[in-house]
Amino acid sequence: MTDTAARPAARPLAVVVLAAGQGTRMRSRTAKVLHPIAGLPMIAHVLATARALEPVRLAVVVRHERDAVAAAVTAAAPEALLVDQDEVPGTGRAVEQALAALAGFDGDVLVLNGDVPLLDASTLEPLLAAGAAAEAVVLSARMADPSGYGRIVRDAAGGLDRIVEHRDATGDERRIDEINAGVYLFRTAGLGEALAALEAANDQGERYLTDVIVALKRSGRAVAAILAADPAVTAGVNDRAQLADVQRRVNAAVVLRWQLAGVTVQDPATTWIDATVELAEDVEIRPGTQLLGATVIARDAVVGPDTTLVDCEVGEGARLNRVDATLAVVGAGAQVGPWSYLRPGTRLGADGKIGTFVETKNVVIGDGSKVPHLSYVGDAEVGERSNIGAGTITANYDGVAKHRTLVGSAVRTGSHNVFVAPVTIGDGAYTGAGTVVRKDVPAGALAVNVAPQRNMEGWVESHRPGTDAAVTAAHRQDAPGEDADLE
Ligand code: UD1
Ligand code: CA
Repeated sequence: MTDTAARPAARPLAVVVLAAGQGTRMRSRTAKVLHPIAGLPMIAHVLATARALEPVRLAVVVRHERDAVAAAVTAAAPEALLVDQDEVPGTGRAVEQALAALAGFDGDVLVLNGDVPLLDASTLEPLLAAGAAAEAVVLSARMADPSGYGRIVRDAAGGLDRIVEHRDATGDERRIDEINAGVYLFRTAGLGEALAALEAANDQGERYLTDVIVALKRSGRAVAAILAADPAVTAGVNDRAQLADVQRRVNAAVVLRWQLAGVTVQDPATTWIDATVELAEDVEIRPGTQLLGATVIARDAVVGPDTTLVDCEVGEGARLNRVDATLAVVGAGAQVGPWSYLRPGTRLGADGKIGTFVETKNVVIGDGSKVPHLSYVGDAEVGERSNIGAGTITANYDGVAKHRTLVGSAVRTGSHNVFVAPVTIGDGAYTGAGTVVRKDVPAGALAVNVAPQRNMEGWVESHRPGTDAAVTAAHRQDAPGEDADLE
């Protein structure tokens, strides 16, 4: 989450984001910093916070899944300098290489972990301010459950003494509830030296950035730990459970933002809205709804329950109930659902309808036109005010190529039609129930091609004697008067 913060310090600021680690605890083929949070890769959230500080330099250290991470970094922060970490592991090594890549930079260096995505610029303000009085400042937080984090060990005077990793900590140290948030402010002078002297004397055999603090303190420099006002924003993501926690928090913030902007969200707990979505005032979101990607929803639209929209555009006052849609446009006042599947390229006009158990793909359905029931309509164009009968299929694929079906305006097609594309049905035409439309239908014509019905009297009695059908039919024949009652 981002906001802007004026920077009080006079020295120029560089931000270094660490994103080279393997993220082993995620047990994922996807790099940890690329796992999405509210529709954006984790690293994009960290970069948004970094950019809000308006640093003169921004560097991101990469290694694991290098190209994929680099692409996400460049998308979120085109100005960022990509720094490739070598095979020497550890957060200390990562910063050392970033510092070398920022050749000649002289000022304050803010280091952010790429897996601490909730951190906002306002939390960083006190840290940046403290940089005026100390050579190194680390952001700390009190955690109800500090396990897994590095612990802040304070000296008798209450000052920062050192940081010990959970895995290297003694039982007493593990009881410390003040943790290292993975956010540090250093001055370039002194940092390089301390990094060069770093050893890897720990359980993981890595060069820990946290040991730089001790080194600086031992060399007589002032170091400090500043408590974050809100510990929740310092949560690190190391595994999928922590990822889900962070996703829930970001989602809650996005939902709240839209509620305050005039959107009714009936059930925030089951509503998921990506940070990239745009909603207008008086939109109503019902339970179990996911609004993802570049989805935009206009005023007075009602979406849900149980609806997923990916990159969709929904017009004013439209209603979508139990819909799954991707890259679809729904016009103003249109109705979709319940139980509709809109695939990419679906465009439904104003006041149109796509109804129950209907699948659409790559189709333009004009204003006021309806596909109400049990149909598949793809690679097609339907004009205005037309009605497509229940159970209609556009047979668009001949096994080799896709073909288009063109339906004019004010057309009435019967139930259970097959449109064998390529085929055109003219304006104002009708088709009979069960028609397999293989040839173009001229405007105003009625197309039928179902064979005349033949009733073979007595067939059941002669071919299925003794069955329930035969007995029941015989009974009805005996009492013809009942038929008349049923008319
Ligand atoms: C780190 C801190 C720990 C702190 C926690 C906060 C160290 C040694 N420990 O632990 O004190 O409480 O963050 O969340 O720093 N990275 C690199 N190169 C590497 C190794 C890691 O760029 O060689 C990056 C990772 O991609 C990640 C960040 O540094 O974004 C932190 O690494 P991680 O392994 O998650 O450290 P933690 O064990 O969480
Ligand atoms: Ca971490």
